[in-house]
Amino acid sequence: METVVSGIRPTGNLHLGNYFGAVKNFLRMQKEFNCFFFIADYHSLTTHPTPEDLHGNVKQVLAEYLAAGLDPEAATIYLQSDIPEIAELTVLMNMNAYLGELERTTSFKDKARQQPENVNAGLLTYPVMMAADILIHHAQKVPVGKDQEQNLEMTRKFAGRFNRMYNNEYFDIPQPFNYGESLVKIPGLDGSGKMGKSDNNGIYLAEDPKSIQKKVMRAVTDSGPTEPNSEKPEAIKNLFTLLDVVSTKDTYDYFNDKYNACEIRYGDLKKQLAEDIINFTAPIRERILDISSNTDYLRKVANMGKEKAHESAAKTLKEVREIIGFRSF
Ligand code: TYM
Repeated sequence: METVVSGIRPTGNLHLGNYFGAVKNFLRMQKEFNCFFFIADYHSLTTHPTPEDLHGNVKQVLAEYLAAGLDPEAATIYLQSDIPEIAELTVLMNMNAYLGELERTTSFKDKARQQPENVNAGLLTYPVMMAADILIHHAQKVPVGKDQEQNLEMTRKFAGRFNRMYNNEYFDIPQPFNYGESLVKIPGLDGSGKMGKSDNNGIYLAEDPKSIQKKVMRAVTDSGPTEPNSEKPEAIKNLFTLLDVVSTKDTYDYFNDKYNACEIRYGDLKKQLAEDIINFTAPIRERILDISSNTDYLRKVANMGKEKAHESAAKTLKEVREIIGFRSF
């Protein structure tokens, strides 16, 4: 059976981008593959959270994973920092990752721009730890959103380089994965770019319905098309992308036809979109509230995952150390 690895940074509540880019695939994959889903808490240190924020966010994401439908009996769900083998594999992989290629990574350049006061080495070597996350369990498939495509390309490069260096087909070369045709990018409501935790343009699984409605009604639009069948500007395309993931095909087609006939009323579209998002998130939100107060259950899930993930990681690390040439006397 093929192995799957994916993770999410605990830097805030999960939003619709995380759900439709990643978690939705996790739910189906856990039934079909050997899955490892983790909370990337080492990775989240690149933004220097306080100890309280770190723990609170890890707990929240774990509760949200479970509320969204991740099954700890079917998949291995764990905290990255519970598996120190990942840190050791990162050290080893760092030796074959070159400064130039790390500096050229788009996510590094973006982050360096966003937090010029904190361009730490962890940001630079972020793709190396990501490779360690994936390779430690010999994953073949990695369900991620479109924004992670380049990081995945780096993992593939590092895996291939390790294999060539030691003349050993040890690592599989993992593929980014989505059940649809291509990787997904969920836009924000601010008219451009993607929905992101730090961009203040997200709708969260745990968000209360009133707040969702307010955000959707405030989304950027324009004065409407004047020519039939005209191309949609970015902000309008984004609303349709959201409609496409949360609403029925009939609803999507209805508003699309209205747009094409220059009869669109954005107020109606937004009202429907808000309603469909709320219908989708409300049951998840209820489960989040329920699970996040159940610390005993969360602890049990984390301990179970730690044990299973550790077994797999320890085996890989032992083999990698042997391949590299570490020998005991
Ligand atoms: P992170 O925490 O930023 O996001 C978690 C997952 O959500 C996806 N995602 C989106 N997908 C579509 N549209 C969006 N607007 C959107 N925003 C976020 C991301 O693509 C991701 O799949 N580096 C990773 C975490 C990570 C990881 C890994 C992932 C660490 N190690 C190993 C896979 C395998 C990250 O920062 O994701």
